[in-house]
Amino acid sequence: MTTNSNQSETYNYDVVKKFAIMTVVWGIVGMLVGVVIAAQLVWPQLNFDTPWLTFGRLRPLHTNAVVFAFGGCALFATSYYVVQRTCHVRLISDKLAAFTFWGWQLVIVSAAITLPLGITTTKEYAELEWPIDILIAIVWVSYAVVFFGTIMKRKIKHIYVANWFFGGFILTVAILHIFNNLEYPVTWFKSYSIYAGVQDAMIQWWYGHNAVGFFLTAGFLGIMYYFIPKQAERPVYSYRLSVVHFWALIFTYIWAGPHHLHYTALPDWAQSIGMVFSLILLAPSWGGMINGIMTLSGAWHKLRTDPILKFLVVSVSFYGMSTFEGPMMSIKTVNSLSHYTDWTIGHVHSGALGWVGMISIGAMYYLIPRLFGREIYSVKLIELHFWMSTIGIVFYITAMWVSGIMQGLMWRAVNEDGTLIYSFIETVQAMHPYYMIRLLGGLIYLSGMFVMAYNLYRTIYGARMVEALIPAPSHK
Ligand code: HEM
Ligand code: HEM
Repeated sequence: MTTNSNQSETYNYDVVKKFAIMTVVWGIVGMLVGVVIAAQLVWPQLNFDTPWLTFGRLRPLHTNAVVFAFGGCALFATSYYVVQRTCHVRLISDKLAAFTFWGWQLVIVSAAITLPLGITTTKEYAELEWPIDILIAIVWVSYAVVFFGTIMKRKIKHIYVANWFFGGFILTVAILHIFNNLEYPVTWFKSYSIYAGVQDAMIQWWYGHNAVGFFLTAGFLGIMYYFIPKQAERPVYSYRLSVVHFWALIFTYIWAGPHHLHYTALPDWAQSIGMVFSLILLAPSWGGMINGIMTLSGAWHKLRTDPILKFLVVSVSFYGMSTFEGPMMSIKTVNSLSHYTDWTIGHVHSGALGWVGMISIGAMYYLIPRLFGREIYSVKLIELHFWMSTIGIVFYITAMWVSGIMQGLMWRAVNEDGTLIYSFIETVQAMHPYYMIRLLGGLIYLSGMFVMAYNLYRTIYGARMVEALIPAPSHK
């Protein structure tokens, strides 16, 4: 059994540790902002008539913080860890890896300053202005150099499937980011897209949907394929299926973007292509989900006692749920009801809190004690966190389903003479109780994150050093 210090010499754990800690920190910050905007939807006066506290400015701060800061740090941490352990080599360059860490934190801080000031391109999930876009591109290319450079000098011939997912995510995000952000700068803080009208919308949702497909899905599938087998101590259920899963998923995702533009000026045939590819996407998504869950074959009993495994497996179940719901919502007739309503918000958060959130949390509970060579401070607190997350999500998404479907039905309800039955404000009033329930769900989920921070703090600064926690290198 190798020791922690030995392994730190063999592998670059320093950058993994930093990204892992920041995952927890940005998770708390981003979700706190989520709770604030959820509260503002219940009590609009909570913006205190202060421009930088308004919903319109804090909402993109929330999405950027949870997706790119929390999710991004989780992906950097896990991909750097997994690529080293499965290739049996140290990262190709410690300096470049450190640059990606500090560069990414600078991007996050710049976002946290500019978004509340109202500096924005207005493109969803690509709101940051051009100087920050250039910084993102530089950091991302450096990330690609570190990741693929490490793969190239690997000592194990086979490239483990988790790395394929991480690699696919890194390459595609680079292309999406660069092409969607081609813009004419007019001042330091203002630019205009080089695309116009419907082409702009098309490129934006090609980017937006694949931000979901590659940032929020492919990268996290890389986490699934490494951490579930590790925690369950079982091999991947079907390695062949995992490879089919990879190619089918990346090929299909890239065409599905137009489902965000149903009933718009986008040509009808393009909308239909988006719908058909979204329906096809159910197959690879569920193939992957089944592969993840069935990896527990022969180890189901562990679910009773291992809360980390619970996080990982329940996250994959939420992945299955949101990838069933997504294709349904992409059917034009269903989308005519769901679009613009809270149903979309419910779908987003079953993916975000359930899939992305829980798999990241599970991976951090696995990683952080090992990286610091410590035994976890309290397994009971992980168990408590698991239930808080699960209950929080259930409150959040069920409230949004009911409110969303009700909202859609109220908007389209007409009298016999064709006039609307409900005024807009009546639909807003009807949603009020559900916004309270969502806020409660969000608060419970966020409180769980504080439990996690406390538990990990006690773990890192606790006295219980455990060398045996560091597993010997293996390629699976
Ligand atoms: C405590 C946890 C959270 C709370 C209370 C929360 C709350 C909210 C609220 C109130 C909105 C705005 C909804 C609207 O405009 O009607 C929102 C949007 C959003 N949130 Fe969260 N959120 C949380 C966690 C997360 C996480 C962890 C992620 C991603 C990993 C996430 C991703 C998003 C996205 C992508 C949107 C935009 C959805 C859209 O435009 O359709 N959220 N969130
Ligand atoms: C097979 C997989 C999926 C399909 C086909 C799909 C489909 C859809 C559809 C049809 C919408 C509504 C578009 C609209 O009416 O504007 C949507 C919205 C969204 N989905 Fe999914 N979804 C899938 C999986 C996921 C997953 C796993 C996540 C999160 C991790 C996710 C995150 C989102 C987000 C953030 C939005 C809101 C985008 C926006 O308007 O800002 N989706 N998805």
